[in-house]
Amino acid sequence: MKKLYIETYGCQMNVADSEVVASILAEDYEITHSIEECDLLLLNTCSVRDNAEQRIRKRLREFKALKKQNGSLQIGLLGCMAERIKEQLLNEEEVLDFIAGPDAYRQLPKLIKESSCGTVQFDVTLSKTETYEDIIPIRYDTNGISAFVSIMRGCNNFCSYCIVPYTRGRERSREPNSILQEVTDLVNHGYKEVTLLGQNVNSYYWKDDNREISFANLIEDAAKISPELRVRFATSHPKDISDELIHVIGNHSNICSYIHLPFQAGSNAMLKRMNRVYTREYYLERVATIRRIIPDCGLSTDIIAGFCGETEEDHLQTLDLMKTVEFDSAFMFKYSVREGTLAAKKFIDDVPEETKLRRLNEIINLQQQLSLKSNQRDIGKEFEVLVEGVSKRSKEEYFGRTSQNKVVIFPKKDAEKGDYVQVKVESCTAATLKGKIV
Ligand code: 5AD
Ligand code: SF4
Repeated sequence: MKKLYIETYGCQMNVADSEVVASILAEDYEITHSIEECDLLLLNTCSVRDNAEQRIRKRLREFKALKKQNGSLQIGLLGCMAERIKEQLLNEEEVLDFIAGPDAYRQLPKLIKESSCGTVQFDVTLSKTETYEDIIPIRYDTNGISAFVSIMRGCNNFCSYCIVPYTRGRERSREPNSILQEVTDLVNHGYKEVTLLGQNVNSYYWKDDNREISFANLIEDAAKISPELRVRFATSHPKDISDELIHVIGNHSNICSYIHLPFQAGSNAMLKRMNRVYTREYYLERVATIRRIIPDCGLSTDIIAGFCGETEEDHLQTLDLMKTVEFDSAFMFKYSVREGTLAAKKFIDDVPEETKLRRLNEIINLQQQLSLKSNQRDIGKEFEVLVEGVSKRSKEEYFGRTSQNKVVIFPKKDAEKGDYVQVKVESCTAATLKGKIV
């Protein structure tokens, strides 16, 4: 059997896609975790920001040496960059044997075979229907406890800064029985947590002759598969987070009390330019509703600093919204113009680099304080924690997460990986809770 090494960048969707790719190639290749011994090297790439792409370009240059050592090594590039800059990559990165976009993975065996004759191959066709629903992912890098399950692909939102609708194509939902079957199989194999994945899971929608299924219906069906299974989901667009869904989360103890709800910017002027189709007031109302229906709900977000035309007043409104909501955690980015997006066409990337950086640092510093405050509020409380593994810092300690998605570290006692334990929180940093099993 030949050996396959996959390196994955970007979001959880890419992690899930790499598992699909491993499955598509499983007849001829088995996964190796050693890059030196592979016959096929795949790089599953991300285009969301320029620094993500630069890292991958650098990595491709490093692969030249590998190829010199092993003349028969084949190297392929997958994912969002394949879609975005195929031509550029083919001209500039001569290590590549083939390129496949996110909807072309079924073509991989063919691309690999044809490129082995020496001509570079590519397929970056986007599909309106591909969901890989019949492919059982090979979870080659798993803790055996948590798994991602892809429920939809693509995006129709066209946020003006975002490349995803161009790299992943139109939104399409996966047939619900195939999703529920995959979750059932995971439960039967001892998994304790699934994360239902999509660019915007709240707009999941399936209709056929006998049924009409929303995301709220789907997640409820997934939760009913086993009370021992935790169900999470990512990511949500605020425009689609319905009361129905919030109630479903609140009504099922095994649907985690945690919502990742990107707000991106705090001022209505910026939200409008970003084509987010909601206002600051609407977002705050959604948060209030979430907290009313699920009082212990964990909340995290994504924030972009220095989008086109952002004034100091706009930036202050971002900080103000963060303080008002008091997010438990956040992913924070500096705006990076992506060629081909609406923002690249319509607006000028006019916030100076040092201003972007300063604003980003202000956002990061504030979030650090908010995360610490949020963790401090948990001291003295007890949480149900799913044991995910041994802590990196000490063999005597486990780590796991609360329903709210906070990482907790605690001495082992008599529990095992995959168990649910009650942990009382005794101390914290901004990043983790520490406690003991009670
Ligand atoms: N520049 C900076 N951040 C971006 N994101 C998406 N596009 C860009 C961009 N052009 C961020 C958003 C999104 C997250 C996945 O990445 O915050 O929610
Ligand atoms: Fe990166 Fe977005 Fe593509 Fe995920 S969907 S890999 S975050 S560009």
